[in-house]
Amino acid sequence: MDSQTDITVETLMNSENPEIALKHMQPFLDMMMWYECALMEIETKLKVLNNEFALQYNRNPFESIKCRLKKPLSIVEKMKRKGLDLSIESIQENLSDIAGIRVICSFPEDIYTVSQLLAKQDDIRVIETKDYIRNPKPNGYRSLHLIVEIPIFLSNEKKYMKVEVQFRTIAMDFWASLDHKLKYKKNNLKHPELIAQELKKCADTITAMDYKMQEIRNLLEE
Ligand code: GTP
Ligand code: MG
Repeated sequence: MDSQTDITVETLMNSENPEIALKHMQPFLDMMMWYECALMEIETKLKVLNNEFALQYNRNPFESIKCRLKKPLSIVEKMKRKGLDLSIESIQENLSDIAGIRVICSFPEDIYTVSQLLAKQDDIRVIETKDYIRNPKPNGYRSLHLIVEIPIFLSNEKKYMKVEVQFRTIAMDFWASLDHKLKYKKNNLKHPELIAQELKKCADTITAMDYKMQEIRNLLEE
């Protein structure tokens, strides 16, 4: 590992010698593989919970899960934006969203059930929790974010890797994808403020609907 300290993603990108570039690329590829393994571990844990719930309570705590690895270019951009050194160590220390997993639930209650069941597993370390459901962002964004560390077992070492786990309902996810478009297009829109206002209204409507649907579900299960 020590030999990797002086290798930065920048030297790789600028290298004119492909052999050297490939050699320098290896630690970065290794790191991405570790993150991918961490994603698989979390995904399996969630699937285990889903299967158990399906058998015991005859319902699924979540609708779907989506895993994604941050693109190398986005990693470099984010590190540069933060003015950080581009070494493999620095990337792992400073970025917590290289491995991301989104858990889409039907009801807000299920978000807390599943996230707590995951967080209390004894190999998981919860590094940070941001509850944008209880404390929504001013634009109306709601989701529960956990940054966790999970061990992956390699041939000769055990490594803790960070994973960002986002929990949201189907409605929150629908809203967030439209809001995401606004972020990207903001500078080319005629009426960005109007769109933001309308989106905020939608967020409030969706919130009311999420809890109404949950009430109905609970009545149905009484
Ligand atoms: P990033 O540096 O962007 O990762 O933000 P952060 O470190 O302040 O973390 P935060 O938990 O606030 O946001 C992490 C991720 O949540 C983002 O990368 C988005 O995927 C999602 N997110 C946060 N805020 C919003 C929002 O207002 N709208 C949408 N659509 N997604 C959001
Ligand atoms: Mg992010």
